[in-house]
Amino acid sequence: MKHDIILRGKRLVALLVTICSLSTAWAGELNLIPKPLRVEEGEGHFVLTAKATIGYDAALEEQAEYLQQLLGQSTGWDLTLKPEARKATIRLELKPGEVGHPEGYRLTVTPKGITVTGEDRGGVFYGIQTLLQLFPTEVYSDRRQHDVVWSAPAVTVYDAPNRPWRGMMLDVARYFYHKDFVKKYIDMMAMYKLNKLQLHLIDDSGWRLEIKKYPRLTEVGAWAGTDAKRLGGYYTQEDIKELIAYAQVRNVEIIPEIEFPAHILSAIVAYPWLSCTGLQHEVPTQHFISKDLLCVGKESSIQFLRDILDETVALFPSAYINIGGDEANYVRWESCPHCQAIIQREGLKKASDLQGYLTNVVAEMMKEKNRTVVGWEEILLRGEVKTPVVGVFWHNVADTIEATKTGHKAILSPATHMYFDFPESSTPGEVKAATWMPPISVEKCYGMEVNDYSPESTVLGVQGCFWSDQFIHGTVLQEIDCLDENRSENYAEYLTFPRLLALSEVAWTPQAARNYPDFSYRLATHFARLDAKGCHYRVPEPHIEKMETVDNGALRFTLTPAIDQAVIRYTTDGSYPTVHSPIYTGPVTVADKSDFHAITVVTDTHYSLPIYFAPDYSAYKPYGEFTAEWKPLIVQTQKAPWRFECTGKIAGNGDYVITFIPTKGENSLQLGGLKLYKRDELLAEVAQSSTSDSNDGTTAYRFSVDAFEAGTPFFIEVEAWGEGGNDTSGLVFIRKEAQ
Ligand code: ACM
Ligand code: ZN
Repeated sequence: MKHDIILRGKRLVALLVTICSLSTAWAGELNLIPKPLRVEEGEGHFVLTAKATIGYDAALEEQAEYLQQLLGQSTGWDLTLKPEARKATIRLELKPGEVGHPEGYRLTVTPKGITVTGEDRGGVFYGIQTLLQLFPTEVYSDRRQHDVVWSAPAVTVYDAPNRPWRGMMLDVARYFYHKDFVKKYIDMMAMYKLNKLQLHLIDDSGWRLEIKKYPRLTEVGAWAGTDAKRLGGYYTQEDIKELIAYAQVRNVEIIPEIEFPAHILSAIVAYPWLSCTGLQHEVPTQHFISKDLLCVGKESSIQFLRDILDETVALFPSAYINIGGDEANYVRWESCPHCQAIIQREGLKKASDLQGYLTNVVAEMMKEKNRTVVGWEEILLRGEVKTPVVGVFWHNVADTIEATKTGHKAILSPATHMYFDFPESSTPGEVKAATWMPPISVEKCYGMEVNDYSPESTVLGVQGCFWSDQFIHGTVLQEIDCLDENRSENYAEYLTFPRLLALSEVAWTPQAARNYPDFSYRLATHFARLDAKGCHYRVPEPHIEKMETVDNGALRFTLTPAIDQAVIRYTTDGSYPTVHSPIYTGPVTVADKSDFHAITVVTDTHYSLPIYFAPDYSAYKPYGEFTAEWKPLIVQTQKAPWRFECTGKIAGNGDYVITFIPTKGENSLQLGGLKLYKRDELLAEVAQSSTSDSNDGTTAYRFSVDAFEAGTPFFIEVEAWGEGGNDTSGLVFIRKEAQ
């Protein structure tokens, strides 16, 4: 039977053991994400046929059509819709009060039929999502599947979310994603029961929302670069209406983020009078945080804000309007006579208090329109805000408790756990991504402690953030094997998945019911669903089930696959495995764990980075931060440029020392001239190391940086060659000299 597909590998063993009690095997193998509140096993299976009908209560027509269309794509059947729930094979019922919790549902599957009972339309939609997870994974395909038995185990699921706010922020300003991609993102959020999409529509690098009263915002502010090569784009108001309608069926509320007073250079480029100086700027083509703020002192800029927000409110039905508010640098306000006049008039002490003043003005404006202001935590940290607002806590998460004591609410989006623009690992070869904090593994994301941020009633929920700084127009993205096209959308998916599934459970499931090993076991079955949806994801490394010390201090590794149906391939000589390396079939013993690598292979072109143990560099502390390593494969026997990234190691203007330290091999590494690049701009050049003849074998170069820019990638290029052969390995460190 086709449903055996999801029970391969260790699941097949479970099936064989419990072959006589199929319902028990199924119940243990539902693998639902997010984990529901309660599941009761039934007897047997429901099998969908072409004759099945979908009945629905009057208010559920859109949900019924959604289910009909989704099942139609993969089964090829045009299931009949019946506008009466009671008389159908699959019944969608709306029964407020029966489930007792907003967005809650009860899903009953019996061999005879299926009933989804929702507290509200959101609840019905989530009952449908859980039902889809019970069917074979092919149900997610948008192409007709053949030879699939469309069966679902008999079961009753009682479920409701732990938090009302289960969000994602998508930065469409730094990189303009076509509306079709936004729809796909909404689909993926909905599949995992996320219900709020904060669209970051405005930033220094682009204005993405059509505003009829200010056409230059999109004629000028949506585009960067010169005419022939200009990049960017924007959503027309019709596009936005289309997205809102698409999201509404999927129980996703789109919350527009109209960012000010900072991150608004794109508007200032279009209308220079919006800023304190009135100077003309250009829309930046690379990551950049402008010091130019919206001038609070000019009536014209406040009127601009009022007009923009009027059109925004008219367009978006969301109960919330996000006003951004993060990362303002107040130097312009400090020297602006108009802004200073407001400071005087309002009796404020300093320029930053003006932000609090502005937040109050706008929160009142929005209250009159029955909308609640949401903004980054800064809106609550720049003086008293009198109207209740909602802060998205990304940085000073501990301030939640203080701020929410004064009547405000919080959404938790700590950058340490919920920023998906950070990579998952620091394994060499990992995709280029944000570097200002350590990587965020799926386990770390899943481990976010929601209950730590009391009082509970003020925490609306949890939100993931996907910033696009790394994808800004013009940035050349690193090619990685599993993505066949070097397109930013694929990277966005690679970085978002599977972490979005961890976020889903953090936000939906009560903290006490969360358990990482259990989640990770269920997760292994979800990659096939992502494949069926055509959604890219980061392939997880194999799980290390055991690492034991055996004779002579050698280590024995026992691995399990992180993806159902994937194989594990490994090496023990320090090289990275390929799709041709030996297949793992049982425990592997190695003398040195840093020589052991293993990868998850989904297909010949789709595989993970290796299990990687970062070497212990504490003995090299005086040389600064580990930056790169060379291995025989990198080194040639003739002089050739070797380029490696040092973003994050170059951290401000000043003097630096870079040291090359040989660690093993027959041959010595010879080094010639060295260049430091800021992206493609040459910043420093050292013709030859002054200490390449040092007797400890190390080679050090010194250079100065005077044009540092945060968020910009830095690279070293050095002439290198192996003397007499390429059998040489070593480490590179960078140290910033004390000023
Ligand atoms: C932020 O990351 N600046 C909200
Ligand atoms: Zn000003």
